[in-house]
Amino acid sequence: MKVFIVYCHPSDDSFTRHMRDAFIRGIEDSGNEYIISDLYKMDFDPNMTEQEYLRDAYYRTEPDVADDVLAEQEKINSSDAIVFIYPVFWTEAPAKLVGWFDRVWSYGFAYGDKTMKLLDKAMILCSAGNTTEHLEQFGLLDSMKKVMLGDRLFGRAKETGFVVFGSTSRENELREQNWDSNLQKAYDIGKNFF
Ligand SMILES: Cc1cc2nc3c(=O)[nH]c(=O)nc-3n(C[C@H](O)[C@H](O)[C@H](O)COP(=O)(O)O)c2cc1C
Repeated sequence: MKVFIVYCHPSDDSFTRHMRDAFIRGIEDSGNEYIISDLYKMDFDPNMTEQEYLRDAYYRTEPDVADDVLAEQEKINSSDAIVFIYPVFWTEAPAKLVGWFDRVWSYGFAYGDKTMKLLDKAMILCSAGNTTEHLEQFGLLDSMKKVMLGDRLFGRAKETGFVVFGSTSRENELREQNWDSNLQKAYDIGKNFF
């Protein structure tokens, strides 16, 4: 299986980057292959142009999709699975990844008379500063799942998963305490989910 990883974090000095690397080691050990878009390293432009907006809001196919968007769409359609790895920012994905969806999930690709393939699997791996109990208690985890699984991925993959690594903010002592077990968990998902 070929896995397309969409990774979005502004810093290499982060739990999320280590979690991504552990996940990739799992993919490699499973014998599957992967490709990756590192949105910050690529300097991916998350801003929709007015022309793109008019095309997507008015269900037109003109103008053609931009080259950077086309490249992402080709990565999706050449893969069997997609994985999103990011830190939670204000109960959402970072703005760059939100903008990736705005532009890459375009009319004629992800909706309308769409050319996006039905993926076998999709997985979301995100890190959060809050405890998972807090995210559950206030309905925040549910909101994130609804947006990612119930909207962005809805009907676009046969099997989906959403894993949040909570308590990973720097002032939380659980960040260090759970570091190795969290990386092991990310490795296991990479090794066994695909
Ligand atoms: C701008 C910003 C917004 C954040 N918003 C949230 C949030 O809404 N909920 C949450 O649990 N953590 C939030 N966090 C914490 C991040 O998820 C945090 O970066 C992560 O858990 C720690 O992992 P890292 O070392 O990979 O950055 C936020 C962090 C930043 C910088």
